[in-house]
Amino acid sequence: MKKTAIILITVCLLISSAPIYAQPAGEKPVGIISAMDSEIALLLENAKIDHTDHIGGMDYHVGTLCGKDVVIVKSGVGKIRAAAGAATLLHEYDLSKVFFTGVAGGVGDETKVLDIVVATDLVQHDYGQITNDGFEWFEEYDENGGYFACDGELVDLAYNAAVEVLGEEHVFKGTIATGDQFIASASYVKILQEQFNAIACEMEGAAIAVVCTQYGVPFVVIRSMSDKADGNAHESYENMVTVAADNSSRIVMKMLDSLTEK
Ligand code: ADE
Repeated sequence: MKKTAIILITVCLLISSAPIYAQPAGEKPVGIISAMDSEIALLLENAKIDHTDHIGGMDYHVGTLCGKDVVIVKSGVGKIRAAAGAATLLHEYDLSKVFFTGVAGGVGDETKVLDIVVATDLVQHDYGQITNDGFEWFEEYDENGGYFACDGELVDLAYNAAVEVLGEEHVFKGTIATGDQFIASASYVKILQEQFNAIACEMEGAAIAVVCTQYGVPFVVIRSMSDKADGNAHESYENMVTVAADNSSRIVMKMLDSLTEK
């Protein structure tokens, strides 16, 4: 074989075996988890997926997004599915951090539909016992009194990215309350405000928080308000879920951009 042909073949082989995505050596991927297809749609549209691992009924999409290695998974709705997805994500992939992105009901008086809430911490509002006096919340089962804190640096990263995407007046930081119920009740919203100091409610965040805390991996939860968790919540949710989910995804992409710029 001629020398030039050998060189050409060698170059081709080198190119085809090189990693598709340029990632600084030693940087671990970011795990991104959501509950629903609508919450990962924009991320998958923008990502370059190298392969998808099917584990325990969930698809783990491995690739890059905004120049960062990522693993993206849709867990399904509710704390059980979210915990299962997060546990597999953390057990199977060596991740640097985890972002949860999706929609929520706005509980704080100040939060409007399509505003963003970045969780500072998360609590399970439905974790407790039923007695003759009604529901009593368990706070004594966790050292942290039942509140699981997000990573401070990731909260700042998410908050700043959200401000860039939507403007400061639409972005809030605070406690998110999680439970296995879609909340559509103004009187329960009062309980979430007064008993839990929550400004948003959803159905997965605290599950992610518990699992990430147990694995010692930093995490943050970003939520875009699809409704106000009141009597109008179902209608508002139907109308707003796609826009709200996409806004949250845009914030995640801005966060990844900021990490790449570092
Ligand atoms: N996700 C979006 N809106 C919600 C609500 N009102 N309650 C629980 N989860 C939600």
